[in-house]
Amino acid sequence: MNSFQIRYRIPFNKPGLTGNELRYVADAITRGHSAGDGTFTRRCHAILEQILGGPRVFLTTSCTHALEMSALLLEIKPGDEVIVPSFTFVSTVNAFVLRGARPIFIDIRNDTLNLDDAQLESLITPRTKAVVTVHYGGVGCEMETILGISGRQGIAVVEDNAHGLFARYKGKYLGTFGCLATQSFHETKNVNCGEGGALVINDLQYVDRAEIIREKGTNRGRFFRGQVDKYTWVDIGSSYLPADLLAAFLCAQLEKHEEITATRKRIWNYYYAQLSKWADQHSVQLPYVPLHCEQSYHMFYLIMPSSGARQALIEHLKSRGILSVFHYLPLHLSPMGKRFGGQKRPCPVTERVSDCLIRLPFFNDLSESKQAEVVEGIQCFDRWSA
Ligand SMILES: Cc1ncc(COP(=O)(O)O)c(C=O)c1O
Repeated sequence: MNSFQIRYRIPFNKPGLTGNELRYVADAITRGHSAGDGTFTRRCHAILEQILGGPRVFLTTSCTHALEMSALLLEIKPGDEVIVPSFTFVSTVNAFVLRGARPIFIDIRNDTLNLDDAQLESLITPRTKAVVTVHYGGVGCEMETILGISGRQGIAVVEDNAHGLFARYKGKYLGTFGCLATQSFHETKNVNCGEGGALVINDLQYVDRAEIIREKGTNRGRFFRGQVDKYTWVDIGSSYLPADLLAAFLCAQLEKHEEITATRKRIWNYYYAQLSKWADQHSVQLPYVPLHCEQSYHMFYLIMPSSGARQALIEHLKSRGILSVFHYLPLHLSPMGKRFGGQKRPCPVTERVSDCLIRLPFFNDLSESKQAEVVEGIQCFDRWSA
């Protein structure tokens, strides 16, 4: 929990612990291999590859870095266009802008807050190289439609799956649809190691180059496997592999992923059950999960009827020692978005949601009695015209 949150009786987030983290980190230290790609990194790769069933997985230092690797692997260059939702974290876009691409912002759907697949085709030009799908809150984007369009147009799909590890769309895991997908293990995520991420490679033609890019542009991986007798500089790259110490922490979490999901499901369902009637009465929108999506239970949000009411509710909860927070600001309106972005269509849903959305406290050891306090605080809110 960061120092900003300590002032609150009920913080917004507390990084979850599952029990074996310290033991595994100690083990990584005593094994004498604390740098990247040690025993625990291999264990994390194996767990993720086994569950996701098919892709090759590389742990990275963050989801941001996995996105940067994706842009390098797709050979994004100046003048290319990449379609990205405006309602996302900066890294989804920054990774491609770093390669010189122009982000084309797409609005989000009213229901799931995922990119509006109905608008996708109209934004594609001969310069379009990729579309990045963000599965907001771990609820799947309409992948069938998106893959249909991108397939016909020969455009790569990268899934920014920072929120959606182990969630599914039509029975298939998020992160296994695009040629590449990225995961986050930041302390705010369901499965975390402080800072961390993964690149999920579904199109295996990218595996060899990904290994090199992740290892500073060298063929060190081949050297360690005895396939070459020296390693050298063979491509561009950077230092994208996390220390095995972090992988040890992550491994303890990944091993308990089913328990983590079950806990978070209970928390999410409690909020939903307790707040549905109140939300109906006050024209507040709750998260929507289509029947064909199994979500990751990453967050619970309310979309208030106005930005004034949203701000007033944040203040009201704060006065009761409860920290609730807003989320992404529209990237097309940000200084960098205005400078680099090519906005072809307005993004009114992004702007409204960004103004009105509030996220409630959500972490693995949030007790039902604390949740009841949050619900009670919300239900006695009365500054609707603020
Ligand atoms: C959609 C999305 N993508 C990428 C990131 C960046 O993740 P990381 O902190 O692991 O780089 C975040 C961060 O929360 C995010 O919400």
